[in-house]
Amino acid sequence: MSTPTCTVGVVLGGVAPEHEVSIISALQAAAALDRSRYRPIPLYIAKDGTWYTGDALLDVETYRDLDRLRAQATPVALHPNRHGTLRIVEVPAASRWERMRHTPLRATIDVMLLGLHGGPGEDGSIQGLCEAMGVPYTGSGVVGSAIGIDKVLSKELCRLHDIPVVDFVALRESEWAHHEDEQLDRCIDMLGLPLIVKPARCGSSIGIDRADTRAELDAAIEDAFRYDSKVIVEEAVTALREINCSVLGTPAEAEASVLEEPVPSSEEEVLSFQDKYMREDDAGSSGAKARGPEGMASLDRIIPAELDSGRTTAIQEQAVRIFQLFECAGVARIDFMMDRNTGAVYFNEINTIPGSFSFYLWEPSGVPFDRLMHRMIQAAQQRFSEASGRIRTYDVNLLSERSLSGFKGSKSNGSGS
Ligand SMILES: Nc1ncnc2c1ncn2[C@@H]1O[C@H](COP(=O)(O)OP(=O)(O)O)[C@@H](O)[C@H]1O
Ligand SMILES: [Mg+2]
Repeated sequence: MSTPTCTVGVVLGGVAPEHEVSIISALQAAAALDRSRYRPIPLYIAKDGTWYTGDALLDVETYRDLDRLRAQATPVALHPNRHGTLRIVEVPAASRWERMRHTPLRATIDVMLLGLHGGPGEDGSIQGLCEAMGVPYTGSGVVGSAIGIDKVLSKELCRLHDIPVVDFVALRESEWAHHEDEQLDRCIDMLGLPLIVKPARCGSSIGIDRADTRAELDAAIEDAFRYDSKVIVEEAVTALREINCSVLGTPAEAEASVLEEPVPSSEEEVLSFQDKYMREDDAGSSGAKARGPEGMASLDRIIPAELDSGRTTAIQEQAVRIFQLFECAGVARIDFMMDRNTGAVYFNEINTIPGSFSFYLWEPSGVPFDRLMHRMIQAAQQRFSEASGRIRTYDVNLLSERSLSGFKGSKSNGSGS
């Protein structure tokens, strides 16, 4: 086997409710990397925000015992490096003796594989960190991630481009606190009942409720504000079919996967966190329901979704359009809601780091997991090199002595003496 040429920092964990889900997605991705090309270095963000590395972090068993994990892993800090790479350096030991007898770990990362879900891992924050550090990273950029995580801004962007969305009202905590009754009236007058209430920037169905009465709406909004200062209240699609489509590539060259139809475990309309990630394997499930190993891939789903070819193509084209609109890169999953009675299809949400990187949609689309990862990394490098070709700095030193004359804080005009 040839020596891998590219070192991939596989970022996993994170300070978000989807911490464990991220560990599964990222380890699946690390295992799928073609080792003749890529050398994975795990970068685990613990729940307290500390970053760790170490080979043991590539094994899911390590995460069962967090004390053992801390003993086996090395805390690291990130350092900007030569443009286009990132350096990780072991956090120095507290004792002088330890520091003297130990050579601190250092490694250079060529590309960051962002395997985080929710919170700062998916809302543009860590993407911004990578931009500022000057290192390529997989997935969407800062803007697409930030808009994509926000269910209000996403729907507004789609509506602006004539992509159907259900009617909704956005509520901010400050307005709600002083005008509860008015806001409840506004929601019911505009949207009727039943309604779905969601924190604007969470995921995994956290804080989502259905309201059939005004009292339930009040309680659901109160509950959603526990998770976010912005809440979205939407018309409920009562005869619901959920249809998801993954898109891969860059805005210039985007390709849609086969469609999936997730199946809820009960008659409840809202797919729960349990439905999504915590179902036990039941070997007796019907042949039409594919089941992947773990994580997002454990949800019962029909692949490909049973829709006629015209409808399938229309949804795939819409998914590609949305991917382009959000200026996504790598892989994203776009989720639609279909009304069984009217056949109307609405954009529901975009996941810019989808669970399990949607590999279970790409395999039946003819893209094996190793290839999916390769294409994601290529997209990251392509976006980076395109951005690096732009003018970022000027060779002229604006702080040369001459240009400083007249500057308030400079000694040359006497103000500093
Ligand atoms: N307007 C709606 N009408 C009916 N069901 C909905 C509606 N919006 C969401 N749901 C249900 O709630 C689930 C979670 O909502 P979603 O917007 O996808 O948030 P999350 O980011 O938490 O996945 C959906 O998968 C669907 O089952
Ligand atoms: Mg969803």
